[in-house]
Amino acid sequence: MTDKNYPATGTLAPPAAQDVVIVNVRPYGEGDPVDILIRDGVIAEIGSVDTSGAHVIDAQGNVLLPGLVDIHVHLREPGREDTETIATGSQAAAKGGFTAVFTMANTLPVMDQPVIAESVWMKGQAYGLCDVHPIGSITLGLEGKQLTEFGMMARSEAKVRMFSDDGKCVNDPQIMRRAVEYAKGFDVLLAQHSEDMRMTEGAVAHEGPTASRLGLRGWPRVAEESIVARDAIMSRDYGGRIHLCHASTEGSIDLIRLAKERGAQVTAEVTPHHLALTDEMLESYDGRYRVNPPLREKRDADALKQALLDGVIDCVATDHAPHGSEEKCVEFDHAKPGMLGLETSLSVIAKIFVESGLADWRFVAKVMSEKPAEIVRLPGHGRPIEVGEPANLTIVDPDSPWTVRGEDMASKAENTPYEGIEYKAKVTHTILRGRVTCADGEACVPETHQ
Ligand code: DOR
Ligand code: ZN
Repeated sequence: MTDKNYPATGTLAPPAAQDVVIVNVRPYGEGDPVDILIRDGVIAEIGSVDTSGAHVIDAQGNVLLPGLVDIHVHLREPGREDTETIATGSQAAAKGGFTAVFTMANTLPVMDQPVIAESVWMKGQAYGLCDVHPIGSITLGLEGKQLTEFGMMARSEAKVRMFSDDGKCVNDPQIMRRAVEYAKGFDVLLAQHSEDMRMTEGAVAHEGPTASRLGLRGWPRVAEESIVARDAIMSRDYGGRIHLCHASTEGSIDLIRLAKERGAQVTAEVTPHHLALTDEMLESYDGRYRVNPPLREKRDADALKQALLDGVIDCVATDHAPHGSEEKCVEFDHAKPGMLGLETSLSVIAKIFVESGLADWRFVAKVMSEKPAEIVRLPGHGRPIEVGEPANLTIVDPDSPWTVRGEDMASKAENTPYEGIEYKAKVTHTILRGRVTCADGEACVPETHQ
């Protein structure tokens, strides 16, 4: 069922007690519709299924995907529960089609101790809408000076398998080198926020003609690319697995391609917003468009799309970054960087790749479920839709037009850059180990929390 080489995850929320049958669904949007019987959290039958006694979901010929996996979100708990919590973030994830998310370490306090990671993991399991995996920080307090105890976090109940100082770059090359060597010993992944911080002091926008015209301090491409190059060389020479968070420039793609050709163990993600939006959005000076790394130019967005199609960039990750309206509805220079992503990503990716004819639903399954699960070596998710596999599944209606409204989000925050935009594809149901966590487009809030 799962790859035995992958470490087991800590105690999981139990599967659903009742059988579920999805009738009239098209796995990967291919072929004739089938029925799927889910029993004890596992896909038990595919074909024409007896529905008696089961909870029936009529999928009306819609698309079935493996449950989506997001390896880069910020759920803000502990510390900023006013902007998001494990509970609201889990609802947003379920509504967006996700069955597993990895939440970043830039919490308050920072996720640099096993006990903090364990509390996040257990809260996610107790809530039960999505597997919420904590990401440990690489350095204590995100201060870039002293490494955290990777081994203790990896062996904790949270089974931390990924470490990142995201929000900040591990700038000091000697600390990064030690982190790479240390990570290799525990076979954990390092996810780097590539930003030479000396080059981005005071920067709020992509360095280019738009920022010059608007009088905004620029964030040059080289600030990202110089770290990508350095880290790729470290991976080549010291052997640890390094993942590039939110690749945003054409040049980063060239470097990742070269590094992969030379056998470095590097992987990369791209966010929906770096694919869909450019720095021209900044003309409005609307704080919603402030994000790190910044929105770039069309040629970067085009290159990122091609790189995802070619497999040079491995996967999509949302970098879901909720902020309060008092932090976003302010002068552009003062707006906090970050955008919501969990509830819009499937629709945005479907529009860019499927509705345009560039790719099919199998591609979406690959870049939003299979690859991210593989990168973090996560058992039970991103698996093929086959008998015997865990029933982590997402149903998508490819033609159900809806309009994005921040106030309608399950997320506590409203900072979506897609406000008022209409999308065609919509997640209708999400299923986690046989339990329905999103039905008819709404997250299924557990009865104990209503
Ligand atoms: O835009 C961003 N927001 N980029 C990051 O790297 C951090 C994130 C946040 O935590 O808000
Ligand atoms: Zn982030």
